[in-house]
Amino acid sequence: MTDMATQDAVSGGDGAQRTVRVWDPLVRIFHWGLVAAFAIAWLTADELQPVHEIAGYTVAGLVAFRIVWGLVGSRYARFAQFLRGPATTLAYLGDMTRGKERRYLGHNPTGGAMIAVLLITLSGTALTGWLMEEPSRVAMLPDLPQIVAPAFADDDGEREGSGEGARGALYEAHEVLANLMLLLVAMHVGGVVLASFRHHENLARAMVTGDKRAPAAGDIA
Ligand code: HEM
Ligand code: HEM
Repeated sequence: MTDMATQDAVSGGDGAQRTVRVWDPLVRIFHWGLVAAFAIAWLTADELQPVHEIAGYTVAGLVAFRIVWGLVGSRYARFAQFLRGPATTLAYLGDMTRGKERRYLGHNPTGGAMIAVLLITLSGTALTGWLMEEPSRVAMLPDLPQIVAPAFADDDGEREGSGEGARGALYEAHEVLANLMLLLVAMHVGGVVLASFRHHENLARAMVTGDKRAPAAGDIA
């Protein structure tokens, strides 16, 4: 409790010596921009199609940016810093169940894995949305036509939007991915809340300010 109060005071003020910058401004703008664009895409789906599509393309653009930033960005933004193998991730999960997981200054192994899954699922949602607009776009993808050929086989010559084959399959995929995103976001936010309690720091606020409590002995920086 006192820890929490102390840390609140520290991270609230400038000139604090016990916080360190973890999330650079672009990561933070990316994150809250993504939350807004994703929410707008969800709320306008089936209701306000032009806004839905703009929000969906915004999500796609943000994800593309994040992939580049994951390769060339600041220390804690880099995939190499937070993507760990299955063994480390499972060991971390085991530690969590025993309440003994260590504090990571950047993303912890499960958070890192979740970020990869979120980015991949968001890409798939935006891609299927884009394809659904005009199913003949599938031909623009190098390998996909062979993989999904059966779903499109009965749709030749009927690509103007009325054909059930191509558009139907894409619609299903788009809907499944969008719903999967809701589940993943719930798990993501649940993980953030859990880690915030476990390590006595408000991680959502850190994603706003960029700063986190300086690492203590035993923490992984
Ligand atoms: C209001 C709800 C949300 C809160 C409070 C929240 C909070 C956070 C926090 C605290 C982190 C950093 C986790 C850490 O400390 O390791 C994070 C990372 C992330 N969140 Fe969220 N999040 C929310 C919603 C979402 C949604 C809706 C999405 C996707 C559509 C999302 C995608 C991500 C991604 C991709 C990252 C990685 C950030 C990066 O390294 O660039 N979040 N979120
Ligand atoms: C990644 C962000 C996106 C999310 C979360 C999302 C989510 C959704 C959801 C939930 C639906 C309703 C499905 C249903 O009726 O059950 C939908 C429909 C649709 N989305 Fe998206 N979408 C995204 C991106 C896009 C993009 C980039 C496009 C195309 C430019 C697009 C085009 C469409 C179309 C055409 C529909 C069908 C509307 C209809 O005819 O009923 N979406 N989307």
